[in-house]
Amino acid sequence: MNSEAPIGVFDSGIGGLTVLEAIRQVLPGENYIYLGDTARVPYGNRTSQTIIRYATSCARQLVDRGVKAIVIACNTASAHALEALRKTFDIPIFGVITPVSEMAARLTQTQCIGVIGTRATISSGAYTTAIHTYAPDAKVYGLACPLFVPLVEEGWSNSQVAGMVVHEYLKNLLDNIHSESDLTLDTLILGCTHYPVLKSRIAEALASLGQHVQLCDCGQATAQVLLQSLNQSQLRANRGLGSVNYLVTDDPAQLSAIGRSFMREPPKNVEHIDIV
Ligand code: DGL
Repeated sequence: MNSEAPIGVFDSGIGGLTVLEAIRQVLPGENYIYLGDTARVPYGNRTSQTIIRYATSCARQLVDRGVKAIVIACNTASAHALEALRKTFDIPIFGVITPVSEMAARLTQTQCIGVIGTRATISSGAYTTAIHTYAPDAKVYGLACPLFVPLVEEGWSNSQVAGMVVHEYLKNLLDNIHSESDLTLDTLILGCTHYPVLKSRIAEALASLGQHVQLCDCGQATAQVLLQSLNQSQLRANRGLGSVNYLVTDDPAQLSAIGRSFMREPPKNVEHIDIV
């Protein structure tokens, strides 16, 4: 395997740019190919079979372009398709769920961890399984927050509406916990690519509900795991500043426009590809 080859990062759409941004901060010298499956987004309400089929076709595109490793930036695809992709492709494949679960298990003092994500991610139980690998006694409370993705994609993450929606979901999460136990939530996993964009709203809502909660970001946790793995396998590129090639399956202009909310430098030179 050539250490100068690019790293492939794919997501159901534009949200994975938050993960790409976090990885680039830790590994700026790598070249990346980012693939956003914008023609088939969202994955979060689909069946496991469909998610595996979509994720496999995205990974195939990246493998055909010679990537040395793949990061599944999408939580939903990580929850459903990681094992299938690892069986199908012969390069290292990283999901976002294990790294951030390990981070949350390390941080929690109260052994009460919350996870918010899409319906497909929460219903898969993948987070509970992963967290219990590192913290077998932790109680894990999941909540699907399907309105968060459209709010972010609409560019409304700083609006009053976003504040109200976030508050309502988090109040439900806390009510669920209180109805079942006396535990205090102290750690919350942002289990969806779009949620880091709502981080301030989430922190504000939790503070107004009287909770001191640490927020765990998938991109940051995954970036550290990727860094360690590339170092161990001596696959780290040896250059100053790498580049990113952006690919999408729908309108390239959309990635550049909405990408502004997700990254400091919005994506440029976005190319359209067809995936069957
Ligand atoms: N990228 C997805 C995730 O992280 C959110 C958007 C979707 O539903 O496809 O779960």
